[in-house]
Amino acid sequence: MSTTPVTEMVVTVAVNGTTYEREVPARRLLVHFLRDDLDLTGTHIGCDTGSCGACTVHLNGVPVKSCAVLAVQADGAAVTTVEGLSEEELTPLQQSFSDHHALQCGYCTPGMLMSAAALLEETPSPTEDEVKVALQGNICRCTGYWNIVEAVVAAGKGGA
Ligand code: FES
Ligand code: FES
Repeated sequence: MSTTPVTEMVVTVAVNGTTYEREVPARRLLVHFLRDDLDLTGTHIGCDTGSCGACTVHLNGVPVKSCAVLAVQADGAAVTTVEGLSEEELTPLQQSFSDHHALQCGYCTPGMLMSAAALLEETPSPTEDEVKVALQGNICRCTGYWNIVEAVVAAGKGGA
């Protein structure tokens, strides 16, 4: 008896408050689903191997590296990408990144923001050490990290 492998599956995912239903290859990564199928290119790909954190999104409120998650694993879930952080105005966290010069090329920034936003959700006024732990899975090649840590701590204190 032969079995036919499942190659395409229908997934229904709420992304930034909008529900999408798409047929996807069973092996499609969530990051490719977001970028290529939904055109949400704010989520970046830095490595595709789970190392850099540029692809970080929230899956049911938990930060995940979307290159390490299959689109089918997000079926029925709620995903927030960097585009979903704010509709028009910058959030206090985004404003703090701007005010503290916490980005240069900006490639890591979407992932940094998503990891930091998840931290602030859990710990509204994090210490420097708590910020460093929360961002340890996010690599930045430009800033030296200090301004990013400062920006998140300041956002937690309600300052910019
Ligand atoms: Fe996902 Fe680097 S692209 S961790
Ligand atoms: Fe360039 Fe972080 S600002 S990688």
